[in-house]
Amino acid sequence: MTIITYVDASGHSSTVDLPDGWTLMQGAVTNGIEGVLGECGGSCACATCHCYIEQDRLGELPVMSSVENDMLDQVAAQRQMNSRLACQIKIGPHLQGLRVELPSVQE
Ligand code: FES
Repeated sequence: MTIITYVDASGHSSTVDLPDGWTLMQGAVTNGIEGVLGECGGSCACATCHCYIEQDRLGELPVMSSVENDMLDQVAAQRQMNSRLACQIKIGPHLQGLRVELPSVQE
């Protein structure tokens, strides 16, 4: 289990303990965290799981695929250098305590 904190655009935070192997998208949707839709179910085809990862932990994430990179060009909120798709990031002990910020819009 790994503790992840989601912070919505209004600054409200939710800290949850998630099973390793889940994705950040699954963790948010399963816990009813607003700000992540995950409409395609995690197949990197909708861009409604856009999130912002704290800058100093970006290096702990898997390398972005070209498909994810292309999808990030279609997100509703502004893409930033720390933008990722939550369905492409698997949770594990290396992400303990990660803070994930969510955009104000997803579509
Ligand atoms: S859930 Fe659709 S791209 Fe992540």
